[in-house]
Amino acid sequence: MNRTLFSAAMSVAVLLSTSAVAALPEAKPLSAQTRANLEAAMHGEAYANLKYLRFADQAEAAGKPALAKLFRASANIEANEHFDREAQALQLGGANSANLEDAMAGEHYENITMYVNFAKQAEADGDVKVAAMFRQIAVDEGTHFDAYKAALAKLADE
Ligand SMILES: [Fe+2]
Ligand SMILES: [Fe+2]
Repeated sequence: MNRTLFSAAMSVAVLLSTSAVAALPEAKPLSAQTRANLEAAMHGEAYANLKYLRFADQAEAAGKPALAKLFRASANIEANEHFDREAQALQLGGANSANLEDAMAGEHYENITMYVNFAKQAEADGDVKVAAMFRQIAVDEGTHFDAYKAALAKLADE
């Protein structure tokens, strides 16, 4: 595809995406499966956002600014439209205390379960550098947990 045609196609794609039908109010609570699918979709969109930003930096470094622009434009849609609309549909977040408890649960799981298991598996497979990295990140997640816990306690005092 030549450059002009490519730009035009991207503009149409962006236009279609931004003019997508607004979410209709749900008459009933979402099913458990729909909620799970929204969670899964949001994980994918968040991952795609960060991945495309990385790809954009790599394109920029390789002297391909137009490709970098394409990746950044897509990354923006993934985060600020797709993830955002799905988060609204899921009614993600709310009161600060509930948000902190949610964040603590995630950090705690990563701190004491997920990264510890990942490190053990990596060690068993001989991937010692990655194992060490998992252990370091596990410690960071513990720090995040502690900070959120302190913030929750402070919130209760206010
Ligand atoms: Fe997307
Ligand atoms: Fe964290």
